[in-house]
Amino acid sequence: MTQPSSQQVHRRILLINGPNLNLLGLREPEIYGHTTLQDIEQRLSKTAKKHNIELISIQSNHEGELVDAVQHHGLLADSENKIDAVIINPAAFTHTSVALRDALLAINKPFIEVHLSNIHSREPFREHSYFSDKAVGVICGLGHLGYDMALTYCIQSLYSA
Ligand code: DQA
Repeated sequence: MTQPSSQQVHRRILLINGPNLNLLGLREPEIYGHTTLQDIEQRLSKTAKKHNIELISIQSNHEGELVDAVQHHGLLADSENKIDAVIINPAAFTHTSVALRDALLAINKPFIEVHLSNIHSREPFREHSYFSDKAVGVICGLGHLGYDMALTYCIQSLYSA
C-alpha cells in the first residue's frame, strides 16, 4: 500500500516545556546554554511546517496548566484538532509530577522526553524521571539540539505509521 506523503496528511505535535524553561538563555547558561526558548520554538515550528506538521508550543511554570493542555490537545479537542505526538521537557516536574505523567498516559499518544542537560550526571535526585519508562525515547545532554532530534524522529515515525 502506498504511504501518504507529508504533503497529503496534516499532523500536529504538541511541544511542552515545564517550569523555568521560559528563562532559557538567562538561566544557568553553563548548564542550559544560551539559546532561548523562543529560538527553539521558532526553529522547530519552521521545520515542522516544511513537513506539513503544525507545532503547538506550550510553556508553563504551573503543573495544572500543563495537565490541562495535555488533556485538551490530546483528548478533549475535536478530532480534527487533536495532536498526534508530544515532545516534552517536563523540567523540574520530571522528578515530581505523577499528575503530568497520568495526563500523558490518559491521552495515549506517543511522547518523547527531552532534557537539555544530562540528568544522569548531575544531582542524584535528577536521575529519576516519572516519564522515561513510558516515553518512546529519551534524549538528554545534547542541549537545544535534542529538541530537533526529537522532532526528526516524530516526522519520520508519523509518516511511516
Ligand atoms: C531539565 C533538567 C531538570 O532536572 C531541571 O529541573 C530542568 C531542566 C533539562 O532540560 O536539562 O529544569 O529538564
